[in-house]
Amino acid sequence: KCENVKNWLTLSSVVALGANIICNKIPGLAPRQRALCQSRPDAIIVIGEGAQLGINECQYQFRYGRWNCSALGQRTVFGQELRVGSREAAFTYAITAAGVAHAVTTACSQGNLSQCGCDREKQGYHDQPEEGWKWGGCSADVKYGVEFSRRFVDAREIKKNSRRLMNLHNNEAGRKVLQEGMKMECKCHGVSGSCTTKTCWITLPKFREIGHLLKERYGGAVQVEPVRASRLRQPSFLRVKEARGYQKPTDRDLVYLERSPNYCEEDAATGSAGTRGRLCNGTSSHADGCDLMCCGRGHDTRHYTRVWQCHCKFHWCCFVKCSTCSERSEVFTCK
Ligand SMILES: *[C@@H]1O[C@H](CO)[C@@H](O)[C@H](O)[C@H]1NC(C)=O
Ligand SMILES: *[C@@H]1O[C@H](CO)[C@@H](O)[C@H](O)[C@H]1NC(C)=O
Ligand SMILES: *[C@@H]1O[C@H](CO)[C@@H](O)[C@H](O)[C@H]1NC(C)=O
Repeated sequence: KCENVKNWLTLSSVVALGANIICNKIPGLAPRQRALCQSRPDAIIVIGEGAQLGINECQYQFRYGRWNCSALGQRTVFGQELRVGSREAAFTYAITAAGVAHAVTTACSQGNLSQCGCDREKQGYHDQPEEGWKWGGCSADVKYGVEFSRRFVDAREIKKNSRRLMNLHNNEAGRKVLQEGMKMECKCHGVSGSCTTKTCWITLPKFREIGHLLKERYGGAVQVEPVRASRLRQPSFLRVKEARGYQKPTDRDLVYLERSPNYCEEDAATGSAGTRGRLCNGTSSHADGCDLMCCGRGHDTRHYTRVWQCHCKFHWCCFVKCSTCSERSEVFTCK
């Protein structure tokens, strides 16, 4: 699933060959994305890393779910696209948009991209909010990263349908969560840490944190429906389904148009990979338990013996003596 992203990351070494060749080789780019790729070949590598960051985090967050962040269907630079406008699709878009913004911002701070760096508004005494401290070090320029993510990630929405509105909303929600997670760190100066003066800077949150926050949003995702306001009958905005009046979702909500499939069986029409062959937990009553994970189809059990070194003692001088311990264990996989 991540193959194509990896494939073209290894192309980083041949950037010198010319952006044209590379950008034409990347599968599934929209025309505006291809143009951006050609004008900023250095950024395309970072974008790939950002998309990968999002995919990895998605797989981590959903490792115990029937849907494990994989899908059947067309491959794009962002992994595989989910056909159904479900909550899972909403999560995928939000985490990818956040991942690209995160990676671009990090690359800016490290001086890896030519057109950005540290946040210049947060240097020295510029824009200093109160007495007693000043900006120092390198503040992450998240505004640049977010803007770049907007320009690149959002450019894949070329069809004027309601799914476009859903995707754009979720992209923005993901970037919002990232921006709200920015933190201020400070360092004290003065005699033996007396903190008479401080220098402070803004840092990006760990991406794991963004994963957890978006997973919560996924749990509370809002079902929406398109509103066609113009005579052209094109959907022009989204409203909360079954709400009274025209209630719009908030810019923090993840939104979805369609109910999720149950992801039990492989189904090309919904993009479900099914749960055949997935590992499950024989004793858990949660989503990772064999009953739920295997959708009642039952599971196979494989016994094995786990062997390790144990009861290790240090003898004077100088060797360590251990015994060998073993334990019968079993793994379960869905039929
Ligand atoms: C920045 O460049 C260095 C050296 O090429 C590399 O090791 C690092 O991973 C890059 N950082 C990002 C965020 O791309
Ligand atoms: C997710 O599940 C599918 C279908 O069972 C499986 O082929 C794939 O390897 C799993 N991916 C991960 C990252 O666990
Ligand atoms: C299986 O689930 C139980 C109960 O939730 C948990 O204590 C145990 O660590 C799990 N086992 C594995 C191998 O994940």
